[in-house]
Amino acid sequence: MTDVLEGVRAHYRATGLTERLKMALTVLGTEEQRLTPQQLGALDHFHTRGLAATAELGKLAGITADMSVLDIGSGIGGPARFLAATHGCRVTGLDLSEAFVEAARYLTERTGQSAQVSFEIGSALELPFEDGCFDAVLLQHVAMNIAERARLYREIHRVLKANGRFATFDVVSVSGEPPYPLPWARTPVTSYLLTAAATRDAIELAGFRTLEWQDDTEAAKAWFARLRESGPPPSPNLGTVMGPDFPQLTDNLGRSLMEGRLGILMAAFEAVSTKS
Ligand SMILES: C[S@@+](CC[C@H](N)C(=O)[O-])C[C@H]1O[C@@H](n2cnc3c(N)ncnc32)[C@H](O)[C@@H]1O
Repeated sequence: MTDVLEGVRAHYRATGLTERLKMALTVLGTEEQRLTPQQLGALDHFHTRGLAATAELGKLAGITADMSVLDIGSGIGGPARFLAATHGCRVTGLDLSEAFVEAARYLTERTGQSAQVSFEIGSALELPFEDGCFDAVLLQHVAMNIAERARLYREIHRVLKANGRFATFDVVSVSGEPPYPLPWARTPVTSYLLTAAATRDAIELAGFRTLEWQDDTEAAKAWFARLRESGPPPSPNLGTVMGPDFPQLTDNLGRSLMEGRLGILMAAFEAVSTKS
C-alpha cells in the first residue's frame, strides 16, 4: 500500500468503532432489536446533505431492483443499506478502512440486510472484481482522497457492464485553498481536489458519457446553514464515528462552501467505450 493510501486509512482508522457504535445504539433499543436504515440516517451517511443526497444520487443513477450495485468508499454502509431497502437492489460496498468495513457489517446485521448487502476491504484503485460485473457504481465523497483520478475512473469503467451507470457526488475545488482539517483529510497531504470541469474531463476520458450534471453547492450551503442554527443531530451521529473534532471538520467544509473556495457536484454517467 502506498504512503498516500496509508495516510487516508489513518484518517478513517476509527479505533474501537464497532464497540462505540454498539454502546451508542443502545438508545435505539437492545442488540436483538432490528433497526431500519432510516433510523441510522444521522450516523451512517458520511457526506454533505446525508441521507437526502443518497436518495437523490440513487435516482440519478437509475437504480432498479434487478441491479447489482457497487458503492466505492462505502464508509460504514449507510448508502448501501438505504439503496438496497429503497430500490430492492443488491449492493456491494468496498472501503479502504478495516474499522469502517467491520462497522458496516455489524450495522447491516442490525438492519437484517446481510443477505442483500455485503462489504469488502479494498482499494478503489485496484477493485477486486471481474470486468463488467456491476450495473451501477456509486462514489460519494471519496474522490477527494484520490490523486490518481484517471486510474480510479478507468477501474470504475472496467467493472461496469456496457452502458452501466456511474453516479458521483463530490466536493470540488472552486477558488483558493480551503482551511484544514476537513471531513476527509486533516491536512492537505491526503486531499486531492479537482474542479468540476476537470472531474468531468477525467471521467469522460475514461469512457463515460455525461447523462446528468448538477451543481449541488447551493443546496449544500443551505444544509450547512440549517445545521449551524440547529446544532448537530442527537447522538448517535457522525461525531460518534469520527471523534470529538468532527464539528470543526464540518465547520471548515461549511465555511469553504460559503466563501466560494469549494463546491459540490452531483452527476451521472453512462459507460460507453474507452477512449484511451
Ligand atoms: C467521507 S467518507 C464517505 C463514505 C460513504 N461514501 C458515505 O457517503 O457515507 C470517504 C470514504 O472513502 C474511503 N476511501 C478513501 N479512499 C479510498 C480508496 N482509495 N479506496 C477505497 N475507499 C477509500 C474512506 O475509507 C471513507 O470510508
